[in-house]
Amino acid sequence: MPRHFLTGTELTRDELLTLVDRAIELKADPLGSAALAGKSIGLIFQKPSTRTRLSFEAGVFELGGNPIILRPDEMQLSRGEPVRDTAYVLSRHVAAFGIRTHADALVEELAEHASVPVFNMLTAEHHPCQALADLMTLKETFGRLDGLVLTYVGDGNNVARSLALLGTRAGIEVRVAAPAGYQLEDGTGAQLFDDPTAAVAGANAVYTDVWVSMGDEETAAQRRAALASYRVDDALLDHAAPDAIALHDLPAHPGDEITAEVLYGARQRIWDQAENRRHAQKALLELLLR
Ligand code: CP
Ligand code: NVA
Repeated sequence: MPRHFLTGTELTRDELLTLVDRAIELKADPLGSAALAGKSIGLIFQKPSTRTRLSFEAGVFELGGNPIILRPDEMQLSRGEPVRDTAYVLSRHVAAFGIRTHADALVEELAEHASVPVFNMLTAEHHPCQALADLMTLKETFGRLDGLVLTYVGDGNNVARSLALLGTRAGIEVRVAAPAGYQLEDGTGAQLFDDPTAAVAGANAVYTDVWVSMGDEETAAQRRAALASYRVDDALLDHAAPDAIALHDLPAHPGDEITAEVLYGARQRIWDQAENRRHAQKALLELLLR
């Protein structure tokens, strides 16, 4: 059975912690691994991407492999070729493949039929590759993960869910502050709050994401109204720990979920976080293809 990475919870706690440390090693020595020499990796994007595409394509190259980017209009999948057949054919050509799409069920169906590892590059429900880079950024900043407090403020979406699932697995206390109707479900491990100020009290990191995710455009106006008091600004950060950092997976909308002062200010680690996508995903590919 190939190892898949669909929600991130396929990794044990030890594997997750080892992956984070390996990502930090790879950052210090970007060409130090040839784990993908002679191998191709498929990267299917059914939604837009800046960071995920850049970091996977550059990361596969640094590991000695060949990234193959596949857009929906280039694939017979978009003309009705069965998902099962697509998984069979991809498995005959590439050592692993990732997909960014809407439905988690599509990724699950691909994984069911693939004989190579399948990884999730963002779905409606999960963004586990982002959470790997987030954990790496926290470890780089604080030198530890166990016992840290991370508060996510805003829409209880794919990014929030993956942070909750993987953050708590790594020993972090994850809190999510969101209004009714936008909160995460129970069972992710996160502590759920309504009041952002109460949720950030003593936090080591304050994290936010877009209010309107890809696929949520039709409800943009309601979302912006409901989430208006869940903006990460300097006043909110003042309630966190004195050395707290601000995180955002990007793309950001300055003035909505985060102020420009925080996004470009001294307390953020957001641009390191964006870089760390590449290093964390290289460590993931090493693990999946071991
Ligand atoms: N954070 C993130 O996944 O960014 P992209 O949508 O640009 O890939
Ligand atoms: N929650 C956002 C993340 C973008 C990287 C979305 O799904 O669009």
